[in-house]
Amino acid sequence: MERVKTGIKGLDGLIEGGFPKGRSVLLSGGCGTGKTIFGVEYVYKGAKEFREPGVYVTLDERPDLIRQDCLRFGWDLKKLEEENMLQIIDGSVTKLGLPSEEEFSLPSTGFDVDKLLLEIMRVIKRMGAKRVVLDSIPSLGFNFENDSDIRNTVLKLSYMLARSGATALLISEAQEGENKYGKYGIEEYVVDGVIVLHYMSTGTQSNRTLHIRKMRSTKHSEDLHPLTIDEKGITVHKIDEEYQNL
Ligand SMILES: Nc1ncnc2c1ncn2[C@@H]1O[C@H](COP(=O)(O)OP(=O)(O)O)[C@@H](O)[C@H]1O
Ligand SMILES: [Mg+2]
Repeated sequence: MERVKTGIKGLDGLIEGGFPKGRSVLLSGGCGTGKTIFGVEYVYKGAKEFREPGVYVTLDERPDLIRQDCLRFGWDLKKLEEENMLQIIDGSVTKLGLPSEEEFSLPSTGFDVDKLLLEIMRVIKRMGAKRVVLDSIPSLGFNFENDSDIRNTVLKLSYMLARSGATALLISEAQEGENKYGKYGIEEYVVDGVIVLHYMSTGTQSNRTLHIRKMRSTKHSEDLHPLTIDEKGITVHKIDEEYQNL
């Protein structure tokens, strides 16, 4: 099994070198756990360090704000976009029924999930993308009336991504304590891996952790690893004595 290095510090060593190539991994967690930063770092590092073109599909945050926030980590997305090593597909503004100023977006005539899927495939093919991030699955279904519509869409999406050959990261949401990893309880069945981010508070302290819940054909760490976000991005830490005693 070939591996795709995430480039996220401390992570690849926990999963036999990276994500299984050509497969999809679900990244789940509550709000503010670092999912968007993780997703952007995956495509940024892919493009910058491994010369693998990537696509970031954003349905929640506006691309201009993502670019701006990333500069704080020293990640110049604009430059990679100009080199066609990274493209951002904007569904955030069209979701609101407004025109987007982005090169890759949807017509503002209303959000159409099938059109979005086709646009994703078109961009993947055109740039030969090896990595794709979808942020996020719950937003795909924001105007659906029932859960079976979103299930169909998730199935369609996973089928299309598998055919594209790209290694995908699908971002979803799960609240602490819930017994499912995606919002709809279907996401985890169509992926080959599940990574969960937690943000817990104990007393006056809060700490972030990363848990690899599932990674097919991989012997992976089963621990809850401390995770930090600093001016260089995300670092996943080994469990050492300092943390075990907490
Ligand atoms: N430059 C930074 N340094 C340290 N922590 C940061 C920085 N930028 C963002 N964060 C942390 O990351 C959080 C946002 O992460 P984000 O990926 O947007 O979360 P999610 O997508 O899971 O809602 C912020 O609430 C903050 O705690
Ligand atoms: Mg987010």
